[in-house]
Amino acid sequence: MAYSLSQLRVFEAVAQYESYTRAAEKLFMTQPAVSMQIKQLEEDSGLALFERQGNKMMLTAIGKEVQHYAHRVLQAHNDLLGVMKELKGVKGGHLVISVATTANYFVTQLLAEFSRLHEGINITLDVTNRQALLDQLEHHEPDMVIMGEPPKGYGLQSERLMENPLVVIAAPHHSLLNHSTPIPLKVALAERFVIREKSSGTRSALERHLREHQVSFQQTLEMRSNESIKHAAEAGLGLGVVSLHTIQPELESGRLTILDVEHFPIQRYWHIVMRKGKRLSPIAQEFKRFVLKEAPRFVEEWQLPNRDKG
Ligand code: PGA
Repeated sequence: MAYSLSQLRVFEAVAQYESYTRAAEKLFMTQPAVSMQIKQLEEDSGLALFERQGNKMMLTAIGKEVQHYAHRVLQAHNDLLGVMKELKGVKGGHLVISVATTANYFVTQLLAEFSRLHEGINITLDVTNRQALLDQLEHHEPDMVIMGEPPKGYGLQSERLMENPLVVIAAPHHSLLNHSTPIPLKVALAERFVIREKSSGTRSALERHLREHQVSFQQTLEMRSNESIKHAAEAGLGLGVVSLHTIQPELESGRLTILDVEHFPIQRYWHIVMRKGKRLSPIAQEFKRFVLKEAPRFVEEWQLPNRDKG
């Protein structure tokens, strides 16, 4: 039996989006062309790969097995294209990276510096939350990802980059600034907290931290971005919890302040994460080396202000 790479690409997209229509949109194909490719793949292989459940196309158990190998074939194919380009002496190359929304604050500065050093490279950067990053890694989309703690057992390899403290922020005239420090956690939690959405790494680290201290929020306001949380805290809507690496301009201009709350900051770490066994293109290898070496330097002035422990 034979299969083509384009059939595998279609198969992978339908498996990912559970829909012919969405897969067709993603691949710039028509919906009948997508369904025809799947039909042919099923006929040629003699395997039932999908079953319809309502309006969703779900992988069968056999389909899931095939998906695993299809990923590997497509990944190897991408690697081969990269190597061939390199052997042909094509300068520059294409870097595909995805980063946690929180990491974007320093990653864009790193990218600016990196592209000054490597003229002519093309970069695709996606900025999204933790869950979306894990989905992308599973589908072999980016060369690498910069995110918080990666989960264990996902077929991922990671390297720790640097510290990522999560701090409590407030408007500069917040009443808790008159409280003696450190402010007891329970006192802080009597306030409304503006927090990230459920799929965010910041949110899950925060919830885990509160569980460890056997306390919980009393009132929350959920927002999908660090920027909205910062604006909300600045406007006095509540206290926020964000990475220290997202608030440098606001700290410098005095629009936000860090509260010295008991058991804070939460100490997290940034990681460079990729699929195990991923073969990086030369430009991606270079970028990884650059980030490991330079990222700590970029944020080294972004330190926690000295605390008055009185
Ligand atoms: P996020 O990033 O809160 O934007 O998801 C942090 C992380 O990856 O843990």
